[in-house]
Amino acid sequence: MTAAAEQLCLQNFGNGVFIRGIVEFSNVCGCDCLYCGIRKSNRGVSRYTMNREEILSAVRSGYEAGVRSFVLQSGEAPVYTVDSFCRIIEAVHRQCSNEIALTLSVGERSRSEYRRFFDAGADRFLMRFETANPRVYALNHPGRSLESRFEALHTLKEIGYETGTGFLIGIPHEEPDDFELNLETLIAFRPHMVGLGPFVPAPQTPAAAFPPGSFEKVLQAYSRIRLALPKVNLASVTALDSLAAQGRYKALRAGANVYMPNLTPADFRKRYRLYEKKSSVDAFSGWPQILEKEMSGFGRRPLWNEIGTSPMMNEDIEKINRSGISPSATASER
Ligand code: 5AD
Repeated sequence: MTAAAEQLCLQNFGNGVFIRGIVEFSNVCGCDCLYCGIRKSNRGVSRYTMNREEILSAVRSGYEAGVRSFVLQSGEAPVYTVDSFCRIIEAVHRQCSNEIALTLSVGERSRSEYRRFFDAGADRFLMRFETANPRVYALNHPGRSLESRFEALHTLKEIGYETGTGFLIGIPHEEPDDFELNLETLIAFRPHMVGLGPFVPAPQTPAAAFPPGSFEKVLQAYSRIRLALPKVNLASVTALDSLAAQGRYKALRAGANVYMPNLTPADFRKRYRLYEKKSSVDAFSGWPQILEKEMSGFGRRPLWNEIGTSPMMNEDIEKINRSGISPSATASER
């Protein structure tokens, strides 16, 4: 099945791989997700928030290497006011001559905040639903519900974000049928992008002693998703490197077409530890050349200078245009 998925991916995208530079701008978090290394109750974490200049400079380093799509990720906490975060979003675009796509991964926020970030220039949003089993969701995310997670995901799509989601394979307390349920739920949502990976135990968390998710299962999930959603942008996630040597490249052979080098400066990056053995292969100077060389061993090449919009997003936009409804026509319900 992985070979068929790789084939289909090559048919749709050729051998180019979209590149997303990720900047983990803050590890401050108000959530207490059982499995997460930067959960609020983990007193062993040295907390940081990168300032505006630090964020802009991390983006600049990626831009200079040819990255045209960036992800700003943080814990779920209002470390910036909505206003000042909007100014950062605008500054990122300005600095990159409006030639980039900007993705946020900052968790559940209100519709009006999502709307304001969108209007300021955030194009895309990533937020995993983690598990489609409401019981397992509640056990892992104190004070949160699967329902509100999906409400937020639907809001993002309605506003017009290119929207990505996924789940955590091997999440603590998972039930035997959950793998199928997660896949069905993901496919039914029809995300434009997918980011899903294995659970990897994080020290100093209540889930530290749970077994990691299976690498094979992640590859199986990627293949199933590629076959069900041939044109989705499917990311090979960092956590794969914790389970297998060159794990992220191997996933490119199972249907993934997106690779996400980490652009967080080293001193912050080591404090953004969601799980153990988090990869830092992109930490060294000369990483673009290393990436090219290593990826070529898997028959693929990074697509520099491309923003890499999801073909599924383009199809959605065409549909809206054909129907004559402007996306802002639904603004009254926002
Ligand atoms: N193992 C793997 N992934 C994790 N995440 C958080 N903690 C872990 C862990 N221990 C993932 C969640 C979240 C994303 C930003 O990081 O799925 O959505």
